[in-house]
Amino acid sequence: MELIQRPRRLRGSDAVRRLCRETRLSPDSLIYPIFVDETLQGVRPIQSLPGQNHYGLDSVNQAVEECLAAGVNHCILFGLPGEKDAVGSSAWAKHGVVQQAIRAIKQKHPDFYVITDVCMCEYTDHGHCGILCGDTVDNDQTLEVLAKTALSHVEAGADMVAPSDMMDGRVAAIRTILDDHGYESAPIMAYSAKYASAFYGPFRSAAGSAPSFGDRKGYQMDPHNRKEALKECALDIEEGADILMVKPALSYLDIIRECADAYDLPLCAYSVSGEYAMTKAAAAAGLIDEYRIMCESALSVFRAGANMLITYYAKELAAAIRKGD
Ligand code: PBG
Ligand code: ZN
Repeated sequence: MELIQRPRRLRGSDAVRRLCRETRLSPDSLIYPIFVDETLQGVRPIQSLPGQNHYGLDSVNQAVEECLAAGVNHCILFGLPGEKDAVGSSAWAKHGVVQQAIRAIKQKHPDFYVITDVCMCEYTDHGHCGILCGDTVDNDQTLEVLAKTALSHVEAGADMVAPSDMMDGRVAAIRTILDDHGYESAPIMAYSAKYASAFYGPFRSAAGSAPSFGDRKGYQMDPHNRKEALKECALDIEEGADILMVKPALSYLDIIRECADAYDLPLCAYSVSGEYAMTKAAAAAGLIDEYRIMCESALSVFRAGANMLITYYAKELAAAIRKGD
């Protein structure tokens, strides 16, 4: 056969395949979600997320040390407060659960990078991501509490804040309050294209943040939309976002690719709780090879154009990446 091009030449051995890889992952790009429960002492497994734990304030550094041992140097913190109310006031309390967790981490591990999720749904007694006016979340009233919350995180020592609420104008509101208090160097990672997704189910059980009525379709994005993601990113950039995010990851690889191509900010993807739980369940049923599915899923997100990844598999992935898988 007179074939001139034989692509298989570059697939013939592990050595040549590794040489020619177009996508290379690094543990430096991974962010691990940590759940801190104010009412807990020690560590408790999360039922909806096999292999994940709730940590008490006394043991949050255990979570950090497991990350460090695995070569993961960034986390995103989620808080489960002892008290909830209609406006979510424990979200910005000086001694709130996330604020205490940040201080505990920074005291022992000042170089471990702490990002905080900024939202109201874990702190409101109705489970919505902001302040209610009737049955809807009031956008502009919510901006104030989000800004206060972000400021309280940075005051406690957070390195970066990540608003996940999907209110209009929240990046600007947070940027303004941080700058006004001398924190112009604290970056904002905006959950820019966050879809109203069924893939958040296991997280909501874990964080106790499911809405008590209705859904989040009035503020999170409609999964049918593509151009709207570009618009959300553009607005966040105008408002001062430093990093953009697309969430979920695996069902939104097209959006990741478009946002990566359209904007020059670093792009984060969030491989959410439902993606993780599905993999775990299929593996537990003996239906898939968990390790290979984990690697291939993460790889696809980076191949699509993401620069960093929030994932419940961060520690296992760091080891896999180091092996060259
Ligand atoms: C809070 C928040 C959610 C997630 C991250 N921040 C849940 C939601 O929007 O209901 C989801 C993360 C996951 O599913 O892993 N707004
Ligand atoms: Zn929320």
